[in-house]
Amino acid sequence: MTNRTLAQETPPPGEAAFIQDLAERLKAKIIRDNPTGIMRRDAHPKMHGVVKAEFTVEPNLPAELQVGIFREAKTYQAWIRFSNQDGSINPDSGRDIRGMAIKLMGVPGEKLLDAQKHEQTQDFILISTKVFVTKNVEEFDNLIKSITGSLFAKLWFFGTHWRVLWNLFKSMKRFANPLQIRYFSTTPYLFGATAVKYSAIPQFATVDSIPSPAGDNYLREAMIRQLSAGDAHFDFAVQLQTDADSMPIEDPGHAWSEAASPFRKVASIRILQQTFDSAQQNTFGENLSYTPWHSLPEHRPLGGINRARKVVYDVISTFRHEKNHAARVEPTGWEIQE
Ligand code: HEM
Repeated sequence: MTNRTLAQETPPPGEAAFIQDLAERLKAKIIRDNPTGIMRRDAHPKMHGVVKAEFTVEPNLPAELQVGIFREAKTYQAWIRFSNQDGSINPDSGRDIRGMAIKLMGVPGEKLLDAQKHEQTQDFILISTKVFVTKNVEEFDNLIKSITGSLFAKLWFFGTHWRVLWNLFKSMKRFANPLQIRYFSTTPYLFGATAVKYSAIPQFATVDSIPSPAGDNYLREAMIRQLSAGDAHFDFAVQLQTDADSMPIEDPGHAWSEAASPFRKVASIRILQQTFDSAQQNTFGENLSYTPWHSLPEHRPLGGINRARKVVYDVISTFRHEKNHAARVEPTGWEIQE
């Protein structure tokens, strides 16, 4: 037992240096990975689609769930970007982690990032696994160092970091359709006097299977097919931190027990029936920037991995927009109409 309280951060000494090293390392990596053409995201460069959605906060939530945007039953317009995590653009049939990045628009109130405090967006960034790969920034920085290093560096790192290997093994999967995957934040966020993790839980009647043979972009094709026939739905849920020791803030490589604290629905996501696969909309998705720090102070990202993301997402997004001669702007609504 410790004297830690709910939602309490405990930054380890030396973390800032690892964050700086990570930002520089990832910038060097995307320069190497994208010698010509578009300068892409370091993670999640392959987009299956960016789609229009509505995010509707549940009415009559119990008092303990009425925090930040969940205080008022209201519908927000959203852009949701679905992706593969792999740093290179590969066929969808490979085992991988998949991403669901949600950006709500029209959210009033000052936001956390100084340079973007007047923007009206609130982002929720989720992946298809309950656990992040590493426990902290130092371990993540060393993982990137080994991945971009020699065979010996890789063998040494994985040989001495069994849990990283295990988390990767559990998380890298094949899926049939991005609209039929359950997604998790893995990292915690402030929520009143405590913290939460987020999850988006798909609601669907027909279960797709992986096509055989599977085309390189079959995940995009599955989305096109499903959204041409009707809407797609997710429940958006929060899992409250109820114990500061067994549900750590600083280690997103450790899932919080759902038996101890189940996910509770706070909003519905409706992805509209639509066509989304135009060159214009794909470019729009390429040029969007998601970060957990596009956020109201009430939903402040917590823990070392989120502290690193404050710096790294800004460095990488700024750099790729400069290189691509693209404006770095937050959307205010469904600007792109097919
Ligand atoms: C220190 C840890 C992490 C680092 C260094 C990192 C790095 C990055 C970078 C550089 C980007 C691209 C940003 C941009 O250019 O706009 C990105 C995107 C993304 N990251 Fe992370 N990430 C980390 C942790 C996480 C975690 C914990 C999650 C779990 C939800 C996550 C999910 C995603 C997703 C889904 C995207 C794509 C967002 C989009 O669609 O634009 N990352 N990450």
